[in-house]
Amino acid sequence: MKIVKVFGGKKVTIRTLEKKDLRNVKKFQDCINSLVEEDAQILVNKKFSLKEEKEWMKRQLANIKSKKTVSLFAEDNNIIIGSCSIDLMPWRQCHVGSFGIIIRKGYRGIGLGNYLMCEVIKIAKKELKPKPKILELCVFPTNIPALNLYKKHGFKEVARIPKDLNYKGKLIDSVVMIRK
Ligand SMILES: CC(C)(COP(=O)(O)OP(=O)(O)OC[C@H]1O[C@@H](n2cnc3c(N)ncnc32)[C@H](O)[C@@H]1OP(=O)(O)O)[C@@H](O)C(=O)NCCC(=O)NCCS
Repeated sequence: MKIVKVFGGKKVTIRTLEKKDLRNVKKFQDCINSLVEEDAQILVNKKFSLKEEKEWMKRQLANIKSKKTVSLFAEDNNIIIGSCSIDLMPWRQCHVGSFGIIIRKGYRGIGLGNYLMCEVIKIAKKELKPKPKILELCVFPTNIPALNLYKKHGFKEVARIPKDLNYKGKLIDSVVMIRK
């Protein structure tokens, strides 16, 4: 899939990951590392090396092929500006899809996250095997944009895990949300 749409006046390409992206690992590494650098409210807090990013991309491609992952990437002028994915969990949780999304600073608040989320959920329903019965995610209780986005898409808080996350030198709770 590859489509071009305008968000906040910018022409953005929305597409799936392809094998040839392995020749351009740095482009993908730059996106996740930019969020690590800004200390965004995401689980990852250590920059990926090129080798680690390449390994991650290879695993993603294998999981996409075996229908265990669906993902979309957003690109502006050869810069990866966001991604959104659903990964089926293994074994007894194989009916559960784990949801994740990141949008690069400078591209937030223009409807991109909302669009990627809608599309990835649609694709997951069509392509994942087995079809997920539950979508699950973990979010910082202080991440208001993310909490609002998830609620808008029907996610509900089901648990708070006390002191689950180490953020800015403090232990804070994590919020677990699901969508049936
Ligand atoms: C959270 C995130 C994915 C939202 O994506 P986005 O592209 O900025 O969001 P959109 O512009 O599509 O807005 C969609 C909805 O999100 C919520 N939202 C977005 N920005 C918001 C803000 N600044 N304040 C409150 N709610 C906000 C709103 O519900 C909005 O819907 P509305 O426009 O109808 O009010 C994005 O801000 C991001 O990647 N942040 C850093 C990484 C991150 O936190 N990832 C999630 C980890 S759990």
